[in-house]
Amino acid sequence: MALGITSLQPVATSPVESRWRRIVTPIPAPASIPLIERLRAAEPQSMAGLPPILWDQAEGFLVRDRYGNQWIDLTSGIVLANAGHAHPKIVAAIRESVERRLLATYAFPSEPRLQLLERLVSRAQLPDAKAILFSSGTEATECALMLMRRHGQQIHRDKVGILSLGGNYHGRTLAAQLASGKPTGAEWIDRGQVRHFQIPAPDCLGCPWAKPAYEQCGNECFQSGLQALAERGIDHRQIAGLILEPVPGWTTFPIPADFAAAAVRWAREHQVLVAFDEIQCGCGRTGKFFGGEHLGVTPDLVVLGKGLSSSLPVSAVIGRREILDQPQPGDMSSTHGGNPVCAAAALANLEVLEDERLIEQSARTGAIVLNRLQALQREYPDRVRAVQGVGLFLSIHLRQSGCNETDIELADAIAQEAVRRGVLMFTTGRGYLKFTPPLCIDVEAALEAADVIHTCLVERISTR
Ligand SMILES: Cc1ncc(COP(=O)(O)O)c(C=O)c1O
Repeated sequence: MALGITSLQPVATSPVESRWRRIVTPIPAPASIPLIERLRAAEPQSMAGLPPILWDQAEGFLVRDRYGNQWIDLTSGIVLANAGHAHPKIVAAIRESVERRLLATYAFPSEPRLQLLERLVSRAQLPDAKAILFSSGTEATECALMLMRRHGQQIHRDKVGILSLGGNYHGRTLAAQLASGKPTGAEWIDRGQVRHFQIPAPDCLGCPWAKPAYEQCGNECFQSGLQALAERGIDHRQIAGLILEPVPGWTTFPIPADFAAAAVRWAREHQVLVAFDEIQCGCGRTGKFFGGEHLGVTPDLVVLGKGLSSSLPVSAVIGRREILDQPQPGDMSSTHGGNPVCAAAALANLEVLEDERLIEQSARTGAIVLNRLQALQREYPDRVRAVQGVGLFLSIHLRQSGCNETDIELADAIAQEAVRRGVLMFTTGRGYLKFTPPLCIDVEAALEAADVIHTCLVERISTR
């Protein structure tokens, strides 16, 4: 019987030794199992969805365990280590901050927070902008949702609804989870009760309106979504805000620019604010600093996280002064938001992204790897539905033979086998593989990882 990717049953591996990959034990490493078992006993099973690799050290684009194995990391943690793991300048900034003995300041004035905020505001190029810092991405999306609701309420009492797109992801707390479009996770509460509404995402891989291919139909797609809302009796005048991922984490491809233009136009006409959740696609991941730059429209709010520090927990909401200044002093803050050590890490990270031209590198390396990975689709069109993405935000979508149904089992099996061969991947449970290494990855290493995926796919489909 095939063992699932999270299984703690060691599987024999063939030794791997390349410039970047080294596999010298069965996977999972037998010596790691007691510790992972203790971890599983101590935390909920929700935490056990990833390959059981005991991270001991992560540096640049490499992850090591303590048993001699080393992986090319295609996960960047969970799409967070944009500048690379443990970048020396980020480590130095953290160390310097710690050694100065300034570990926490809450909302008291502090210079690291100021420096980071000023940098973010100038980077965002939103008119008359301010920014606020938090720890997790979810906390920042929650703040954006709250700001949009407050803004709507000033227009009229019932204008507090939030519109989001199916399939997008915005976090784990109540409002963030309701705004998310995964089929599971938010089933415990009725969206209508709290005025969260969804329309289908413009997902051209599985068009919600059953069109065979994209034909400049973004406007029509958005209007059809609105129409479907109206048919459910939802009055769009109660909508205060629209939140979306400009480059969704699961398609890794920018939403159509004509869909974005239609959405923003509609929002402006109806005094609805637009928030771009850039937590995953921002900070250079897609070859531009903001994923939204692929769309050619300007949102009212931008939410960042993950790659903002490539390390410690930092997230941010950036937006126009009049929106961010709605809550009174003391009404919008977070104990660890703008923590000086985290702010120093984020500032150093932004400097590294710029000084080392990692955003341009993401675009360049991404294009080369995409080209290599697209061979999979040319060779196996029956099983590879699409290979797409921008920058180092790439995904391989698999389907079952002879139909267009996603092949979750195949995707998970390839990820599992790649891990046994020194390429670290995570499963998505949605029939696609994600190729999201740190942006600093050596192009040869990225191509080597692509070739490992290719081999795993070929072996897997020829043995089934
Ligand atoms: C697009 C997007 N929004 C929000 C979040 C939530 O961020 P966090 O896990 O830091 O709370 C994530 C995390 O994966 C994300 O990808």
